[in-house]
Amino acid sequence: MNEETRLRRVRSFVRRPGRLTPGQRRALEALLPCYGIDSDLADLRLAFDRPAPLVVEIGFGNGQALAWMAANEPEKNFVGAEVHEPGVGRLLKSVEEAGLGNVRVCMRDAVEVLDRQVSTESLDEVRIYFPDPWPKKRHHKRRLIQRPFLERLVERMKPGGLLHLATDWAPYAEWMVEAIREVPALALQGDPFVPRPAWRPQTHFERRGEKKGHEIVDIVCRVA
Ligand SMILES: C[S@@+](CC[C@H](N)C(=O)[O-])C[C@H]1O[C@@H](n2cnc3c(N)ncnc32)[C@H](O)[C@@H]1O
Repeated sequence: MNEETRLRRVRSFVRRPGRLTPGQRRALEALLPCYGIDSDLADLRLAFDRPAPLVVEIGFGNGQALAWMAANEPEKNFVGAEVHEPGVGRLLKSVEEAGLGNVRVCMRDAVEVLDRQVSTESLDEVRIYFPDPWPKKRHHKRRLIQRPFLERLVERMKPGGLLHLATDWAPYAEWMVEAIREVPALALQGDPFVPRPAWRPQTHFERRGEKKGHEIVDIVCRVA
């Protein structure tokens, strides 16, 4: 099995049935048709009615960080990819309540979105905050951040584009840095771990990690 096939088969998530609140259900029914991106749209950029730098957040969870970033960076277009329906419902409610015109949502596997709906050199930024750490060794293959995934990402990012990762799981932080170093087109400068940049708010999983006493690290690198 080549790496591409393996990446396709081993998913970075397990579908949890996740109970929807009535509000989340209503949001999905009423708002997904407005803000959702269909799986047959050829290029994510076509989901917006204006050209603008495109930021993709993968695995946005409850979406509160994404809504905050989109409100604080109105000059950019944001696409969030998430498979967890309650989180998508929660994000859609926030987007509607805040009147955010610069957010669109893909409610499916981000790896498939990247493969099918993202053109070469079309992304300005990719943000991946607290991806599932899959701590057991036999599950490491499920980790989203791996060389083949980063290579696919880099192809779709513009030269000079920014990749921003964060985690509260120290072994995954080291793993991320190793994976980045395996991709020549990604440039880390100096200490790979940086203080949380001003554009990233605290996230739900970050707060959970902090309560457990985990150290939080951010990693920011650019596409050569
Ligand atoms: C640990 S949570 C972090 C959520 C959020 N970023 C935060 O910091 O609170 C990881 C999220 O990534 C999502 N996820 C994992 N793999 C994904 C994939 N391939 N495509 C879309 N979402 C994914 C999961 O459903 C989960 O909600």
